[in-house]
Parts: sequence; structure tokens; C-alpha cells
Amino acid sequence: MKKVDVIAAILGERKHYLPIDTAVTVFAPTNIALCKYWGKRDQELNLPMTSSLSISLDDKGATTQLQRSTDAYDKVTLNNQVMDLSTPFCQRLFQFLNLFRKPNEWVDITITTNIPIAAGLASSAAGFASIIKALNEWYQWDLSLKELSILARLGSGSACRSLWNGFVEWQAGEQCDGMDSHGELFHQHWPELCVDIRLTSSKEKTISSREAMQRTIETSPAYQDWPARVKEDLSLIKQAIREKDFILLGKTAEANALMMHATMLTARPAIQYSTAETIAMMQQIWHLRAQGLNVYFTQDAGPNLKLLYLAQDRSVVNACHPSLRSTTVR
Ligand code: PMV
Repeated sequence: MKKVDVIAAILGERKHYLPIDTAVTVFAPTNIALCKYWGKRDQELNLPMTSSLSISLDDKGATTQLQRSTDAYDKVTLNNQVMDLSTPFCQRLFQFLNLFRKPNEWVDITITTNIPIAAGLASSAAGFASIIKALNEWYQWDLSLKELSILARLGSGSACRSLWNGFVEWQAGEQCDGMDSHGELFHQHWPELCVDIRLTSSKEKTISSREAMQRTIETSPAYQDWPARVKEDLSLIKQAIREKDFILLGKTAEANALMMHATMLTARPAIQYSTAETIAMMQQIWHLRAQGLNVYFTQDAGPNLKLLYLAQDRSVVNACHPSLRSTTVR
């Protein structure tokens, strides 16, 4: 099944709608997975091997402004910089946009993120979610969040979780067209739960998550255990959120992230996103925990860690990491 078939099934007649004349501006939050998505069962449609669960970072993410280009060519601005259309960033963007627009519909698109790009901070999730929301307004499709989630997934898997604030579960689904593989709000209000991004580097990653996932599936013997582990972790994480059991949440989320990285370390050739600073920070966090502070971490496809702790411990956590650049994101 191809992306265009999924789009045709969702849009139907709407495929022929014309864009409005005014500019649209939308925002989508980035999301941090507490139970990770790692591995695709379908590379074309970004269908995952397992379900996953994330928390959205409210006001940290991507804003997309979309309007008709005043010239007969496309224009892209990323974080105040006019982009060369031949860059990998623009190529990926237009591969996605071209699935929806008609010939000669030249666009002027401005994307602004308030998190570093491609350093394992899920900026592409927020990016693709905001682009699909912008297209929905520009063409006045009036799609549901579930339909937008399915379309955002075609750009980047984890983008399907960035349509909502709060906790979001991405149901892996079983259908080969992926119509049952989308985000879904996991209802719980837990304002005391804090997430901090600890930046060790904002450099672009050396290997994309797409490539890393595929190599892991194909060559890592540890990947065999991953789907069963995720099933168990997901159920524990949902229980922890339901019961607001922070220790259960922290220890399960941390172990889940470490297991994901273990599957990469045992790939051939090995993939390692951690740097010496990442490892040092992990050890610091374990040391603080041994001293009684309830702080945990999670890590995505990059060297940065995200700390998980409760609001009551914010000042202690911040005092322990004065030398590291941090962004309190939630
Ligand atoms: O959606 P992608 O291709 O950027 O993959 C994201 C994978 C992780 O961030 C490592 C895990 C996750 O669930 O977000």
C-alpha cells in the first residue's frame, strides 16, 4: 500500500479543494516518548512494530505558517533562515507536501521551532504535525484529529502523537493500510510531572532514526526481545500514570529507553547516540537517586537526556545540574 492510497482514502473529494488566499499559522507540540517506538513493520507508511506512549511538551514545538507564494516557485524559511531547496530538510519537506498539493500550487512556508532541530528532541514530530495541521486549515479539509494523526504519521512516525497535549498513546494497529495506527489521548491530568531537556549537544545526529531502526531490526539479536518488553512496559506506564505513581513511571520509562539503546548497541555495526557527556549525566542521575532524589531520565535518538521528576523537587534537581544547559519544558 502506498501513501497516496491512504491519502485518497482519507481525503476523498477533499483532494480537489483549493487553498484559501490568506496565510494560516498553526502550532504543534513536540512529544517525548515514555514508552518508545522503535522499529517499523511497514517502512512506506511508518507503521510501528509496537504501540508507544508519550507526553507532549505544551509550548515547546513547531509553528508553521503557510501561504501561497507570490512567485512561481516555492519558498522555505526555517528558524528565520531562507533555505536552499536542495537541502535534505527541504527535500523531505517537499516529498511530504507534494503528496497533497496540486501542480503550480507554489507555497511560501515558514517553520519556527523553539527546540533544537534533529538532536533527538523530536523536532520532526512537531514539524510534521504542524505542517499537516496547516494544510488542514489551508485547504479547509476539516479533518478529525485522528485523521490528521494518520496523515502526520506518513511524514514521521512519532508525529502522529503530536496532535494533542498531555499523554498520548500511539496504537500500533494491525491493518496493512494503517487506518487503525494513530495517536489517541490517554486521559490523565498530572501537572506536577516535570520534564526537562538537558542539552549536551544541539548538533544534528549522525544517523537518522529511520536508518538506525532498520539496521537494529535487521542485525541486532537483542531486538527479538523488544516487542514483548514494550508490551509489559506500556502496561506499567499506563498503570503509573493512572495511579500517579511517579517511581513506577520513572523507573519503567528509564529502563525502556535503556533497552532501546541496548538494541542499537548490539546492532552490526553498532549504533551509539550517547556521548561521554551523556554517560556522565546518567551516572550523575543514578548517584542522585542513590542519595534519595526521585529523578529519572529518558533518551531518544540523540545524545541529550530528558529528566523526569516531580515539581516538588524542581529546585533540588536544578541545583544539582548548574553547569548543564537545561530547558524546563513542562
Ligand atoms: O518518528 P521518528 O522516525 O523520528 O522516530 C522517533 C523514535 C524515538 O524518538 C527514538 C522514539 C519515540 O517513540 O519517539
